Amino acid sequence: MSKRLKDLEEELIRLPMTAGFIEQIQLLTQRYGKEYEESAEAILALVEKLDFDISRISKIYIYDYLKQMHYFLNYGSYGNKDYENIREEIYDNEEIMMNTYYPGLLMSYVYTTILYDKLKYCNEFFIPDLKKSAKGIEIGFGEGFYLWEILRKRKDVHIDGFDVSEYAMKFAQNLLDKGDVPEEQYCLAYGNVLEGINVEDSVYDFAVAAELIEHVPNPQDALREIARLVKPDGLLFLTTVIDSNHMDHITNFESINQIEKMIQKEGFCTVEKRQYVMTDDFPETKDKSKGIIFISRKM
Ligand SMILES: C[S@@+](CC[C@H](N)C(=O)[O-])C[C@H]1O[C@@H](n2cnc3c(N)ncnc32)[C@H](O)[C@@H]1O
Repeated sequence: MSKRLKDLEEELIRLPMTAGFIEQIQLLTQRYGKEYEESAEAILALVEKLDFDISRISKIYIYDYLKQMHYFLNYGSYGNKDYENIREEIYDNEEIMMNTYYPGLLMSYVYTTILYDKLKYCNEFFIPDLKKSAKGIEIGFGEGFYLWEILRKRKDVHIDGFDVSEYAMKFAQNLLDKGDVPEEQYCLAYGNVLEGINVEDSVYDFAVAAELIEHVPNPQDALREIARLVKPDGLLFLTTVIDSNHMDHITNFESINQIEKMIQKEGFCTVEKRQYVMTDDFPETKDKSKGIIFISRKM
């Protein structure tokens, strides 16, 4: 195990709430060995350059997650306020976005099986299949993790990123600078997928919509707008969750089949799909989250 991962474990062990996260790190280490450790090491090295207080961020982020999951387990719904309230109180809130939400999300790619599973799938089945010098779009790029992951592995690729939070631009710009991604490889701008992205039809070879559709009240409209932007034969990498609450989750889905039908309705066919079920790995947990991944092709 790398020194940074060991340090992280020691950091987390002091927080009694996060015992489950240590188990997840251990499971990922056992299951994927060097592959996981290298990925975790790269993220932790980036986190070090970004100079976060890992302990504080993890504590707040995990505390909020447990609070939200507690609500979901009690009431069977996400129970968050309407979308405009979420924008005002969360996406437009500098303290939350810059000091908890985005750094916490970035760290989660190290210590949650559900997010690591998505990253692994992206690396195996999506990034290698992008055509040479492909031009892509990411909607809801947030902290910029997927921009960093794709662009550092594919120096020939360019991505335009759009997000409704002005802090996404600030955070991701810093992450990409510190993560050594040249500015020529990306362009970041404000964009609301529900109001329409200011780009012509069929411009992109691929689209990324990672952890986006559970955040909007009308995911079908978001998917329609994404489909408009992708060229025929272009790819979509989409991730989401079922039964997994966060401070800004507003739409829950019934099943992977329901999500597949929604994607297909906008003219995509499925290339790969996967559902990761938390309780398959941790049968004792009350956390029944499912991680969903689709790689789809525009017909
Ligand atoms: C959970 S983050 C996902 C970040 C990143 N894609 C990832 O997977 O790690 C969700 C992001 O979606 C953005 N978002 C929410 N509603 C949006 C909308 N209508 N249009 C564009 N972005 C939106 C939020 O600002 C936030 O940055």
